[in-house]
Amino acid sequence: MENGVLYLTTKLQIYWKVNTRITSQMENSERAKHFIVAIDGPAGAGKSTVAKLAAAKLGFSYLDTGAMYRAVTLKALNGKLNFSDRGALGDCAKNSRIEFVEVDSNVFPQVFLDGVDVTNAIRDPLVSRNVSEVAKEPSVRSFMTDLQREIGAQGLWVVDGRDIGTVVFPNASVKIFLTASIEERAQRRFRELKAKGYSPIMNELIDEIAKRDEIDSNRETAPLKKAENAFFLDTTSLTIDQVVDKIFGIVTAKGKS
Ligand code: CDP
Repeated sequence: MENGVLYLTTKLQIYWKVNTRITSQMENSERAKHFIVAIDGPAGAGKSTVAKLAAAKLGFSYLDTGAMYRAVTLKALNGKLNFSDRGALGDCAKNSRIEFVEVDSNVFPQVFLDGVDVTNAIRDPLVSRNVSEVAKEPSVRSFMTDLQREIGAQGLWVVDGRDIGTVVFPNASVKIFLTASIEERAQRRFRELKAKGYSPIMNELIDEIAKRDEIDSNRETAPLKKAENAFFLDTTSLTIDQVVDKIFGIVTAKGKS
């Protein structure tokens, strides 16, 4: 792959198009060689949308760690795995090949699972309802964490997830904890699903998000929580552009300091 890097573990491979662009504010600075912006927060807080836009504005690459957990969940569902069989879930992760292909820095990367384009399939409500069960499995997590560290070992990255600033990159240059009220998060997910042709039911969405938050926040391994030194950003009454601008401001201020 042109400009590509092949991240290879025993069986799981992740490709990522290397992003060598850097912001003018950070040019020639030592820290420009490696910079991680970690964005964590609960379901539907808008992390992936703002993380992707902030990455494009900063000239950074974007890593959507939720997509990795979603891809393994899709594979487990397709294979009709028993979710209480922890070994089977771990093997499922290890035997998956996940590829991110960045076609254009302004749109979300396409996600391939074992060579098949699953960009839309991993956002299906069935995957959303099951992903937290898969993501709480320690062997799945340790595998994903190693990969995420490998990918983010060099270069400029915006990485979003649940445990990025706490576990995956505890020394991240900038940490942001993004949240919004549960009603607002459910509204956002409602609009997103409607636009994709689904017929979501508001109360069901609130329940699903609350359940996912609960599992993600209370699991033993790498629970969702704000890193001590993370900026807390409540986006309930902010527009996407306002959130992106805030993140851009925080990162560039840090880059200059
Ligand atoms: O976009 P949304 O808020 O629905 O979630 P996501 O970022 O796609 O993540 C889906 C699920 O993956 C989360 O609810 C977590 O259970 C899991 N996840 C995780 O455990 N750790 C991460 N770093 C990222 C996602």
